Amino acid sequence: MSGILIKDAYALIDGTTDRHSIYITDDKISGIDKEPAGFKQDTMIDGSSFLVIPGLINAHTHSYMAPLRNIADDMPFMDWLLKGVNPVEDKMTGKDAYYGAMLAIIEMIMCGTTTFNDMQMHIHQTTKAVKESGMRAVISRGLVGSSYDRNDVRIKEALEEMEDGKDCDRLSFMLGPHAPYSCGPDYLRCVADLAKEKGLGIHIHLAESQTEIDNLKKEHNCTAIEYAQKAGCFDVPAIAAHCIRVTDSDIEIMKEHNVSVVTNPASNMKLGNGFAPVPKFLEAGLNVAIGTDGAASNNSLNMFHEISLLALIHKGVALDPVCIGAEECLKIATENGAKALGLEGVTGKIKEGYKADLALLNLDTPSMIPQNNLISSLAYSANGSEVDTVIIDGRIVMQDREIKTIDTEKVFFEAKKIV
Ligand code: NI
Repeated sequence: MSGILIKDAYALIDGTTDRHSIYITDDKISGIDKEPAGFKQDTMIDGSSFLVIPGLINAHTHSYMAPLRNIADDMPFMDWLLKGVNPVEDKMTGKDAYYGAMLAIIEMIMCGTTTFNDMQMHIHQTTKAVKESGMRAVISRGLVGSSYDRNDVRIKEALEEMEDGKDCDRLSFMLGPHAPYSCGPDYLRCVADLAKEKGLGIHIHLAESQTEIDNLKKEHNCTAIEYAQKAGCFDVPAIAAHCIRVTDSDIEIMKEHNVSVVTNPASNMKLGNGFAPVPKFLEAGLNVAIGTDGAASNNSLNMFHEISLLALIHKGVALDPVCIGAEECLKIATENGAKALGLEGVTGKIKEGYKADLALLNLDTPSMIPQNNLISSLAYSANGSEVDTVIIDGRIVMQDREIKTIDTEKVFFEAKKIV
C-alpha cells in the first residue's frame, strides 16, 4: 500500500473549483477531504499553489506519427495523406514507431494528458511505450482492406497485439478500421463481425472530408455514417473521429447507436476540412469527446490548445458566444473521453474510487493569475505549460515538469535520428 496526499489544492470537481485535500491509495482516489481508514502517507504534495484537474483524455491520436511533425503542411487533404504522409510513414520501422510513441507520450504528459486513444500501424510498439511510461491508453491497430477475410494480416496483428495488454490494466484495445475510403464494405463488415464476436469496440475515422463524402455518394449512394452503420460498425461501442460532413439523419443514426464522436479542431482546420457541428451533437445528446489527431496533421498533441479551439471555433462560426461553454469543453476533454473509451467510472473525474489520473497546474504563473474563474482559466488561458505534476494510476510520472518514467534525452536523440 502506498499513499499520496495532495493537501489543500484547488480541484476541478463536478464543475466547481474549491479547495480540497485528495487522498490517493495505490492506483485510486481513496478519499476527498476525509482521510480514508488505514491511510498510510508516503508522499505529501502541498497543494496551496496548485489546481488539480482530472487528467485530460486525448480521444483520437496516432502517437507513432510524432516524428512526422511538420513534414507535410499547407497541402490539400488527399495530397497531404497520399503524397506527404503515407510514403514517409511506410518507411518507418518498429523502432521508429516506438520512439515516436515515446515522444508523443512525453508531449502529452507535459500538457496534462493521462489517457490517449491511439490508432497505430506497428504492433507491440505503442503498447511497449505505454507500459514503460506509465501512461494509460486504448490502442487499435489500423486496419485497411477490401474483402471479407478473417486471415487478413492486419486483423491477425490486431488480435495478436491484444495479448500485450494482459498484464497491464492501463491498456485496453479496440479494432481500428481506418476509414470508409480505405476499408471496402465487405472488409468493414468482417471487422465489425469480429468486434461483435470478441466484445471489442470500434475506432474509425468518419466523414472527415468532402471528397470522402462525394466518393461514397457516387460509389455506394450513402453517407459515411450510413456506410459504417450498414457494415455493422455501430452494433458495438463505436468511436467515430472527425464527423465533419454529417447530415441531421446521420446524427440521428449515431444517437440511436450511442456512437461517441471525437472532434479534432486543429487537425480539421489545418487540413481545410472544416468543423464538426459540435453544438448540434450536444443538443442531440451525443457523447462528444476531443482529440488532437496525429502530430502530422495537428502539429501538436496539446489538449489545452484543442479545448480552447473547441470553445472559440463554435462561438465564432455560430456567431453565438453561449453555444458552448468552458465547463462543457472541459467535460468533453475528461469525462466524455472516458465514456467514449469504455473507461466511464474508471477515469476522467476526481471522485473517490476512480483511478488517480490527475494533472496539477501551477497557479503561480501569468496565464493563471488572477484566479477570477479557474474554469475559464483552463479553457481560455492555459497553454499546457502550467502543468507541473502528473499522476497516472496513482504513480507520479512527472513532478516539477520532470518526467520520472522516461529517459527523455534518449527519446529526443532517437526521435531526431529517425528524421
Ligand atoms: Ni486520425
